[in-house]
Amino acid sequence: MNYKIALIKGDGIGPEVVGEAVKVMDAIGRKFGHTFEYVDVLMGGCAIDAVGKSYPDGTAEQCRACDAVLLGAVGGPKWGHATDPDKRPETALLSIRKDLGLYANLRPAALRPALAESCPLKNDRGIDLMIVRELTGGVYFGKRDRYQTEDRGEEASDLMAYSEKEIERIGRRGFELARLRRKKLASVDKANVLETSRLWRQVMHRLAEAYPDVQYEDVLVDNAAMQLVRDPGQFDVVVTENMFGDILSDEASMITGSIGLLPSASIGDAAPGLYEPIHGSAPDIAGQDKANPIATILSVAMMFRYSFDLPAEAQAIETAVDAVLNEGWRTADIAKSGEEVVGTVKMGELIRAKL
Ligand code: IPM
Ligand code: MG
Repeated sequence: MNYKIALIKGDGIGPEVVGEAVKVMDAIGRKFGHTFEYVDVLMGGCAIDAVGKSYPDGTAEQCRACDAVLLGAVGGPKWGHATDPDKRPETALLSIRKDLGLYANLRPAALRPALAESCPLKNDRGIDLMIVRELTGGVYFGKRDRYQTEDRGEEASDLMAYSEKEIERIGRRGFELARLRRKKLASVDKANVLETSRLWRQVMHRLAEAYPDVQYEDVLVDNAAMQLVRDPGQFDVVVTENMFGDILSDEASMITGSIGLLPSASIGDAAPGLYEPIHGSAPDIAGQDKANPIATILSVAMMFRYSFDLPAEAQAIETAVDAVLNEGWRTADIAKSGEEVVGTVKMGELIRAKL
């Protein structure tokens, strides 16, 4: 098969980590008999510099003409202060999610065997969970307002809204993913306070009846934050709304002790899906061959699994990554003091050599 991949290399370390991931894709192509064609798509801070807006006209169309999108990282302090939405890198991220209908954001947080000791918590049963974050609704996309009041000064508001339909489609994703894993689903909400959460819970309970083989529980978001540090091993799949998922997925990534290893997928009902490392653009180390390319390389594995239904190819990448880590190779972010460190390109090379 030939696959067409949109590459949004983006800012900071984005181009370097995407560069290594592309070489891994090509190696997989040679091994399994696929070809990959790449289309560069300009988005993020680099697009602000080049054409004056972070989300240039036609970005979504360019991506839609491809089978999947691989994104490095967008943003950085250089573009951090603009108020004009066109000049903000975040605008591009939110727009592409909405325009491509990427309502399900899969953020696995797994402790890789070779790095079990980098977990800052006690983890008797290991950590292997997947946060399924709703990505195109809620307070991120609700009406925003800023206005003067008579007696309370200036006031601002952000509306959080969820429809039954939106909750149901992400809920189903949660149950379906749980079925493919350890068959446990935790739905995180704030139903003791928020009306959107009460609707969320009602829809989830209805769905739970259709998935009797999945062990289901409701968890309040504050308790979920606490349980994640108390005993992360208890979770398998965690499904939640957009902002809770934003916050909890950062927490979950930290407890694995290695944010440079974590991939993510954003998918909808139609192609293309978008795949990206969880980490940011790390401008402080950009262009220095210091970034860890593993999160982006594992994002390619997710692309093979979820967009192309190529589980053997995905597994080959994951096995190669674990083999390199087991041999003790480390980039700076995952090295303990005194350990020898390899750069971005060398890490990519080592992983390809295992394929
Ligand atoms: C993420 C990021 C984005 C989000 C920001 C940069 C808009 O934090 O992908 O988690 O909040 O969704
Ligand atoms: Mg975030």
